[in-house]
Amino acid sequence: MLGSQMLKSQFPILSRYINDKPLVYLDNAATSQKPQGVITAISNYYTGHNANVHRGVHRLSDESTAVFEESRNTIAKFFGADSQELIITRNATEAINGVAYGWADHILKEGDVIVTSLMEHHANFVVWQEVCKRTGAKLELVGVDENGRLRLDELRQKLEIFPIKLVALVHVSNATGTVNSVKKILQLIKQHQKDTPIRLLIDGAQSAPHMPINFHQLGADFYAFSGHKMLGPMGVGGLLVRKELLESGEMSPWLFGGGMIFSVLPAQTEFNPDLAERFVAGTPDVASVVGLAAACEYLYQLDMRKIEQHDRELVLYALEKLQQIPEIKIIGPVKSLQTGQQLDRLGSVAFLHQAVHAHDVAQILDSEGIAVRSGHHCTMPLHNYFGWQATTRVSFQVYTSKNDIDSLVRGLEKIKQVFKS
Ligand SMILES: Cc1ncc(COP(=O)(O)O)c(C=O)c1O
Repeated sequence: MLGSQMLKSQFPILSRYINDKPLVYLDNAATSQKPQGVITAISNYYTGHNANVHRGVHRLSDESTAVFEESRNTIAKFFGADSQELIITRNATEAINGVAYGWADHILKEGDVIVTSLMEHHANFVVWQEVCKRTGAKLELVGVDENGRLRLDELRQKLEIFPIKLVALVHVSNATGTVNSVKKILQLIKQHQKDTPIRLLIDGAQSAPHMPINFHQLGADFYAFSGHKMLGPMGVGGLLVRKELLESGEMSPWLFGGGMIFSVLPAQTEFNPDLAERFVAGTPDVASVVGLAAACEYLYQLDMRKIEQHDRELVLYALEKLQQIPEIKIIGPVKSLQTGQQLDRLGSVAFLHQAVHAHDVAQILDSEGIAVRSGHHCTMPLHNYFGWQATTRVSFQVYTSKNDIDSLVRGLEKIKQVFKS
């Protein structure tokens, strides 16, 4: 079913032709395509229920509020979280910024340390540089090994030496596909936890679309994700926050205005005691939340365990095929850490072409109707560290098939012809 023609036909855009060739969409780590059900859910909302939420007593406002709350519940449930633990944001970037403004700015003091890594997307990197400027905290970076895996030994050392308050790490790298073990990271944190807690933020932008996530089992304090990478619309994502941090006020609102208040007096404002409402400042993008809930339902029906399995097969197939092309050097893990263990890689395969610049590779593939991404994928620290100017990345979704990877391989053959002539 996954990757089948039948499933592809549920995504209207996939029937497009590009340069007279059927579209082969392999740029899913940048954004995924949307099934008809998601598009219809958004359209139905505007056609039948549109009104502002929470502030009206008329029928449409009631309906809109109900639909918004139901959708929030669906999204939270999909992630194994309570609805109150879900803060709707525009995307993962805004979610991580939310932790910066709503947590770090009032918790961190001069001399405190934030740990992040060399493999981060800029969204989980630049934000912390800025927090350090504002608070006087220091940023420490955990390195990667030659296969693009996080150096857990370095994380341990840093936890031993520094007064760390926050560890902010990516779950699945958008550049190398490396899957970080949250379990191992948490074990290290717990071993080094002293009087003040060390909080863990997981950037789940690339794990949410590819593996089952249960926020409570994951054990992180914060988990950020983007709806548009998991078949939902653009403009909506979320931040999951452990309830205890919300109840204690350790995580506090960072956007202020209407909707999130209980009472406003000239001298002071009391925020809404309802955690779910305390973080909704202003009019939310209800239609997009409805669309994301439809995407979560769609993924749930397909079964995230099967999706992960499908993705793993595609990764292994792509690695096998691409490694047969002499000009191509894969970046990121290609062999599992121990024999018999699963390869710790999901979602994408990125590579260097020894003879041709990544942008030329992408352009030639585009002429064949194949959409891939080239560049630094918002991971400049990692690219600079390895001395890669730009890499080409192919990335997968539920509709990707092995045939799509075969088309990619044929497209890469074309590169040889173009550059020979
Ligand atoms: C690992 C990772 N983190 C964060 C982001 C930022 O996502 P968004 O642009 O949707 O905020 C991305 C986007 O590619 C990503 O891959």
